[in-house]
Amino acid sequence: MAETIPDLREVPKAHAYAELKGHSDAILEGVNDDVTAMATMASLVHHAFGHLWTGFYRVVVPGQLLRVGPYQGSLGCVEIVFGQGVCGTAAAEAKTVIVPDVDEFPGHISCDARSRSEIVIPVFDQRGALIAILDVDSDRLDAFKTEDQQGLERLVSWFATVR
Ligand code: SME
Repeated sequence: MAETIPDLREVPKAHAYAELKGHSDAILEGVNDDVTAMATMASLVHHAFGHLWTGFYRVVVPGQLLRVGPYQGSLGCVEIVFGQGVCGTAAAEAKTVIVPDVDEFPGHISCDARSRSEIVIPVFDQRGALIAILDVDSDRLDAFKTEDQQGLERLVSWFATVR
């Protein structure tokens, strides 16, 4: 295993995400395991950008309940109900939610008081069913832009190719 995680904090976002996608696809070649993929992607994204919290919540009851999956960072909430917080909102709407300032998001669930902004990306399988969400938190305000949305959506599109 020769893969190392690059530090991409100073790299233009589009380039950074293309590089991460390349690493992720190389590591996951021949792998057909959601937990392995989630753990790999969480580690890559977290360390490449120095985020506060990066990880997945899995759909355990479709339309109703998310439960934490592989992540990097301080302890995450164990379960989130669809419709609650940023993660539950993204899950209920099955679309990406960018929150530039978590204090301005009604119902934001604070797992770590240092969190200032957040992006949540839905993860779909081949049939278009929601299987998880990817949640990334930053200790900086307004850390996530359209380029992050595009890069992260492309990264998790892996799940629709294998399951
Ligand atoms: N802030 C999220 C909860 C998950 S944690 O931050 C890890 C939310 O509002 O859904």
